[in-house]
Order: sequence, then structure tokens, then C-alpha cells
Amino acid sequence: MTNVLLIGNGAREHALAEALVKSSKLYSFMAANNPGISSLSEKIKISSLNDFDALKAFVNEVQPDFAVIGPEAPLDMGVVDFLEELKVPSVGPHRVLARLETSKAFTRDVMAKYSVPGAPRFKVFEDLTEAKEFIEELEGFVIKPDGLTGGKGVKVQGDHLDTVEEAIDYCKDVLKDHQSVIVEEKLIGEEFSLQCITDGKTVKITPPAQDHKRAFVDDKGPNTGGMGSYSCEDHLLPFITDEHVQQAREITELMAEALYKETGVRYKGIMYGGFIVTKNGVKLIEYNARFGDPEAMNVLPIMKTDFTKVCKAVVEERLDDFELEFEDKATVCKYAVPEGYPSNPVKNVKIEVGDSKARIYYAAVDQREDGLYMTGSRAVAFVGIGDNIAEAEKIAQQAVSDVKGPVFFREDIGTERLLNKRIEHMKQLI
Ligand code: AMP
Ligand code: GLY
Repeated sequence: MTNVLLIGNGAREHALAEALVKSSKLYSFMAANNPGISSLSEKIKISSLNDFDALKAFVNEVQPDFAVIGPEAPLDMGVVDFLEELKVPSVGPHRVLARLETSKAFTRDVMAKYSVPGAPRFKVFEDLTEAKEFIEELEGFVIKPDGLTGGKGVKVQGDHLDTVEEAIDYCKDVLKDHQSVIVEEKLIGEEFSLQCITDGKTVKITPPAQDHKRAFVDDKGPNTGGMGSYSCEDHLLPFITDEHVQQAREITELMAEALYKETGVRYKGIMYGGFIVTKNGVKLIEYNARFGDPEAMNVLPIMKTDFTKVCKAVVEERLDDFELEFEDKATVCKYAVPEGYPSNPVKNVKIEVGDSKARIYYAAVDQREDGLYMTGSRAVAFVGIGDNIAEAEKIAQQAVSDVKGPVFFREDIGTERLLNKRIEHMKQLI
């Protein structure tokens, strides 16, 4: 048996735990007691994920063979470099490479320097003398702060900003607490997530999935962490072809190579690309340095290849002779989230989850003696797995509607109506 250290405590990490525990003993370092992860672990430690002293003590105690890092915050703190000093290799990038997610300017600059295709027109500004001219040149613009956003995020023309003056004002605002601001061309199309696993040399893809960021039915309301997602039994999506997936894979392969050239360090872990299919082909919106939440729950439960073996191959740089296989199943994930989420969620209220055919992954909940309490963010994810989307959707929908307590969810995720809307949107673009 392999001893694995798992860092993180959301639904994504619950799915990672479930995949790892098939052939590993699991030791979990969590900021809160996720009941799903706890029940799968030999031992847990509850601690702030930033507390590297506590992490070191836990590592000394459990002697893991390697670590799997779930969320981005510890990656940004350099947890992989820290664990390396303790002789524990990780599935997760070193700090210098975690900038792939934490610095949008870094990612765009590397793409440009090494001619990685798929970038929109962009410029990074540290002062705004030439910004106006560039914004005026673009047909539509998007303004992105560089670095972690702390509330101020990406603003898209048409959604959050209209005029060039508003864009400049927002750029000024961003530069008050960020070193640079990225102005880029607004891309129009359908977005999809491609989560790739890499040892820094070889890139393996998992089935593409589509997330739903808006809080309410029909993509209305504020952006959230993601209300749910789906993937299809043919490992495509209704609006993309295999060629699109291969384009996204190639961009990621070239990016992995470029990152090595730029830093001299191999990227070992997940390169999760947020891509968009446009009338000019596939473009990259952003990379994340970890699995998606919810999208991890679309791919890990149907992975046929043993995930522990995949992780070992990543840390030992042996992915090239590896076949990564998935079941030909569709998946639909729906999150139950607290009423008022994301701006003003109810907290410390009890919910009950019934029995169902869906897989259940716990997120922002706390298991107390008298039951399961929501802590204010996405609470529980339900994943239906079926021979097609309709079957998978039915299972997820049934399970999420059975939750008792003040929650809501998106009943339209994975429904034929919403899928048709995506297909129509794509047809209009081409
Ligand atoms: P990000 O934080 O980079 O994921 O951006 C958040 C969201 O903003 C994305 O999911 C897209 O919907 C949108 N977005 C970011 N960049 C662009 C772009 N260049 N064109 C159109 N939409 C974008
Ligand atoms: N699905 C959105 C994210 O994981 O960032």
C-alpha cells in the first residue's frame, strides 16, 4: 500500500480521496472536518492549510510516499517546495510554476514568448499611458488584475463594463493594489474545461467538462465558484468536436514545454485549462494549477486507470508509457448551496442528505454530533453517472432535490434544454 498525504477539504478533495483510497492509505490535512474525507482516511489533521509547522509534524508522523495538493492557496504558498525539503514529492506544481494560476500576466507572457497558440490579443500594463490606445483598438475588451484578486476580479465588456472610460477607471483601480493589469480581447464562444495531468514532459487529458458559474437557472445572477458541471459518454461535449479537444491538448503540451524552458522546473500536477471555442478555433482563457471544483467530480469517478498509479507516474516522470482510461459514461454534478449564496449565505444551519443513487461529495459542511451543518459556501455536490446525460441528470437532480434544509441548486444543469441552448449558441458563431 502507498501512503498518500492529501491536502484540502472540499468536494474536489473528497473526490480525490475516493479515487486514491482504492489503492492507498490516506492521510488528510484539512482546514475543516470534511466527513467524506475523514471516513476514507487512516488519520486526519485539522489545521490551517497555511500552517507549515503543523504540516511538517503530520508528515513526520505519517511518512507519506507522496502528496496530492487539492486547492490553489497552498500551491501559491509554496507547499510543494516545502514538502520537497521534507523529501515528499507532490502531485502539484512548485511555487514558481503555480504562477500559471496566480499570475495571469505570467501565463500570457509565457504564451507570447514561446509562441504557444491560443492567446487572445493582450497587453500587460504597469502604467496606463498607452492603455487607452490599446483598448480602443480592440473590438471588445476584458480587464484582468494580475495576481490573486481579493474581491476585484475579471471584468468583461458588456457584462461588467461598457465604455473605454469605464475600462480605464477600472484599470486605475486595479493598479492601486496590483502590480499590473492585463487588457485583452474579448473572446466570444462557448467555454469548456480541459483538466490535463502532466509530469512536465507528457500531457494526458481527462474528458472535457462544462462548468456553470452563474448562481441561477438560465445563467442568471452573480458568479459563483461553480454550481455544477457535466461531461458526456463520448468524452466530448455537445458543442465541441474531437479537433477542439486536440487543439486544447496541444496548447497545454506546448505550455508545459514552455514552462520548463522558462523556469527549468518540470510542472508535475494538473494543468486545468479554461478554454473557449470561438469561430477562430480554441483559445485559452486561463489556466488553473489544480483540478476544477466541480469538474474534478466529472472525471475522477469515471477514471478506470488506478489514480494512485497515475500520481506515482507523475512524480516519477513516467507518464509517457501510461494509458489513462475513462469509462464511457456521462456525468452530471449539481451543488446544493446555502440560501443567499454567494453574497449572503445562511450559515450554521443543519441540512439532511437522503439516500440516492448519486455519488455524494461534501464541501463546506461541518459534521457535528447532532448532524451536518452548512458553513456558508457550496455545501454538498451530487454526481449522477449514467450511459447518457439524461440518465446522469436524472440521478443528480433526484438527489439534490431531496436535500432537506435552506438550500438551492440549479435544476437546469445537464438538461436537454440547456444543452440545446449551448449548441444553438455555437451554431450562431460559425
Ligand atoms: P478568469 O478569472 O480568467 O477565469 O475569468 C473569469 C471569466 O471571465 C471566465 O470564465 C470568462 O467567462 C471571462 N473571461 C475571461 N477572459 C475572457 C476573454 N478574453 N474573453 C471573454 N471572456 C473572458
Ligand atoms: N470550476 C471553477 C474552478 O475550479 O476554478
